[in-house]
Amino acid sequence: MSSKAPRGTVDLLPSAARTWRYLSQTAYEVFSTYGYEPIETPMFEQTDLFVHGIGEATDVVGKEMFSVLSKNAYEKIMAGEQLKADQRLSLRPEGTASVVRAVREHNLIPQGGAPVKLMYAGSMFRCERPQKGRLREFHQLGAECLGAIEPSADAELIVMLMRFFECCGLPRTSVTLLLNSMGDDACRPAYRESIRTYIHENSADLCEECNRRAETNPLRAFDCKNPACHAVMEKAPKISDALCDDCRTHYETVKKYLDIAGIDYVEDPRLVRGLDYYTHTVFEVQVKDGLGSQNAIGGGGRYDKLMEAVGGNPTPGLGFAIGFERTVMALEAAGVELDSGSNLEVYVATVDDTVRTEVFTVLQSLRDAGFSADCDHQARSLKSQLKLAGKAQVPCVLIVGPEELLSGEVTLRDMNTHIEQRIALHDVPAEVRSLLGTQTA
Ligand code: HAM
Repeated sequence: MSSKAPRGTVDLLPSAARTWRYLSQTAYEVFSTYGYEPIETPMFEQTDLFVHGIGEATDVVGKEMFSVLSKNAYEKIMAGEQLKADQRLSLRPEGTASVVRAVREHNLIPQGGAPVKLMYAGSMFRCERPQKGRLREFHQLGAECLGAIEPSADAELIVMLMRFFECCGLPRTSVTLLLNSMGDDACRPAYRESIRTYIHENSADLCEECNRRAETNPLRAFDCKNPACHAVMEKAPKISDALCDDCRTHYETVKKYLDIAGIDYVEDPRLVRGLDYYTHTVFEVQVKDGLGSQNAIGGGGRYDKLMEAVGGNPTPGLGFAIGFERTVMALEAAGVELDSGSNLEVYVATVDDTVRTEVFTVLQSLRDAGFSADCDHQARSLKSQLKLAGKAQVPCVLIVGPEELLSGEVTLRDMNTHIEQRIALHDVPAEVRSLLGTQTA
């Protein structure tokens, strides 16, 4: 049998895996300057968490979840039995609901200790139709802040997100930050009703799905990709005209802070995001060129009701997630060099079979001294070993041959200048350090 990676998944080969580590590291460095700490939650959760947290009527939960069955649960289903809540499991389609669940379960916000700021990096799973920038397993870098009510927290989060993209080298001019307020329980129900009425009034020009959405979750009609529906929804009532005083003040204050921070944004009253937990501020970072319809590289917002939806005490929250694969595409489109290749520092070349033991020992001393070093394990000729080291752009090569070894020496070759020198075997780590030092000076 010759198997392939499942549809909509990719292998992160060494270059992509190095980039994933680099972007995760950059995220940790940037977010920790804002007080964020790492958290890791399971890859799967009880399905109910996503149903109650993200919303049953969202595409993510209603259509795109991968459910997980243990063998035992599978057999129960085949026998026509019902599964208990803790047997109904799904792969996480996003990280927010899991982080909020973990904060509640472990009581991570001690009395008077809010907010708690958490960041994560990992795979998410959505069974969407795969296309450029849209995968079934993709990687997100996320941040969640629980327990902060002030609009300054919304602005801080957005500033942090934009700082991350800047630190990765993405020019500010290549992205647009879209901003909106989704209102809250005081003003959204009436707005939702006005959209339901609008859908009914325009039902002939909207697709079947949007007409269905009028009953289940009318705001989702703004997300419809059908161009005809898009044109109709463009003319729908705007949430910005329906916000209550509290929501308007919150939103205006967020914008004031963003102005102070020098962050450009475009207000988009039709930005509703695809998850039901949002209240107040929502935002999305879209790339201007090169990504087609999958141009959102990150997004998030406030979710002041999510903690209650997953069984906790009222706790405001807000966060965002960045899509790794799309961010890489955006960086590539902007001409940012991401992967500087392998980080091998020393290649130890074997002149012939008689010196294999010494090569083994030299390698060990180099690695013990903290260098990344490698050698040939396939009895290649010296010429091909040097060619290989050149191709891998290793900055220095140690040539170990029987003749030099007689006088306790090896040859150190600077791969940039091709200058060679004989050095004492016991000086290898120091000489290598000195050569690498002159190369980077
Ligand atoms: P989201 O907008 O669904 O938000 O996903 C965030 C980012 O993940 C998107 O902007 C996109 O870059 C990437 N992404 C989403 N789906 C796919 C896919 N199928 N293939 C490739 N990349 C994808 C959330 O997930 C929220 N949890 C964000 C959040 C955190 N809101 C509050 N806190």
